[in-house]
Amino acid sequence: MKALVLAGGSGTRLRPFSYSMPKQLIPIANEPVLGHVLRSVRDTGVTEVGLIVGTRRSEIEAVLGDGTRYGVRLTYLPQDAPLGLAHTVSVARDFLGDDDFVMYLGDNVLPDGVVDIAREFTASRPAAQVVVQKVADPRAFGVAELGPGGEVLRLVEKPREPRSDLALIGVYFFTPAVHEAVAAIRPSARGELEITDAIQWLVASGAEVRASAYEGYWKDTGNVEDVLACNRHLLDGVVARNDGEVDPDSVLVGAVRVEQGARVLRSRIEGPAIIGAGTVVADSEIGPYTAVGRGCVVVGSGLADSIALDRASITGVHGLKGSLIGRSAMVGTSGRGADHHRLVVGDHARVEVAA
Ligand code: DAU
Repeated sequence: MKALVLAGGSGTRLRPFSYSMPKQLIPIANEPVLGHVLRSVRDTGVTEVGLIVGTRRSEIEAVLGDGTRYGVRLTYLPQDAPLGLAHTVSVARDFLGDDDFVMYLGDNVLPDGVVDIAREFTASRPAAQVVVQKVADPRAFGVAELGPGGEVLRLVEKPREPRSDLALIGVYFFTPAVHEAVAAIRPSARGELEITDAIQWLVASGAEVRASAYEGYWKDTGNVEDVLACNRHLLDGVVARNDGEVDPDSVLVGAVRVEQGARVLRSRIEGPAIIGAGTVVADSEIGPYTAVGRGCVVVGSGLADSIALDRASITGVHGLKGSLIGRSAMVGTSGRGADHHRLVVGDHARVEVAA
């Protein structure tokens, strides 16, 4: 079996971050989303991975390389334009050959893995096997109607009036039967070749399509709130470890990971939290549920339930919560009195200050 991991697309819901980096590289618990995805693929025993990339290929390649670090072998598959999930299958046609494959959306995180579902698929090899989970608002997803034995009766992409609360989550298993379906469908109302429509085509043609209910944690990291929620979940798995330097005037409470070369001075860090390699934290309070990236500087500040990306600097600002602070971003005080705020904020950025 092979894997097809999707890291193209535009990521408009993750602006302003997606202006400067592909959304699939946003770090969650200090690991890019695609790193979590590749480990999950490798855990199923699949090592041949085709990676669909769009205009941000060079940044993705700089981080993932040939995949060795994640125990997989990556083949980069350029997609000229984000024409849809089913379109990526035709882009990957030569790479996939006549092998079965798992398609994994590169912005979906399933930390409990999909090993059992992969085994189920390999044992019975239906034309397609989708993975579903109950959601509160199915309108943002592909939606499945199932029969009593878990067989798929009908699939609709982002329906206005969903007929079930079962969302398709970002992992699909296919036999080569899917290629005929992908060739047969036409673009949807939003102009994309939908994988949901290709699977519905299989259902309509009488092929066996099955669904597995997923009981584990799943997050589509498509927007800032979901990124932070996923960060909280993954930080719950952090193990306390100090590879840096923590001075005697600092206190680490609970599961705190201090990475190599990081220095913590006169500060209190409450776990779960990660202080990235080479970061300096001084006279500050950090955590819980906070991941600080590499080479950051946090001085005289308070940061909780947040992510700071590499080389961010935060100086003299307390009460930061639920924040996502970009690479090399600077958050500080104006030094010109309590009623003087100065913002240099890029397009689609969001600033919320205490009232
Ligand atoms: O998260 C689960 C949902 O993912 C499913 O319920 C939907 O049925 C499915 O269509 C998909 O919906 P999204 O609107 O969330 O898909 P998105 O556009 O975010 O694309 C998913 C991933 O695939 C993302 O990493 C970008 C990548 N992609 C997307 C398109 C449209 C590509 O690589 N190429 C593309 O052409």
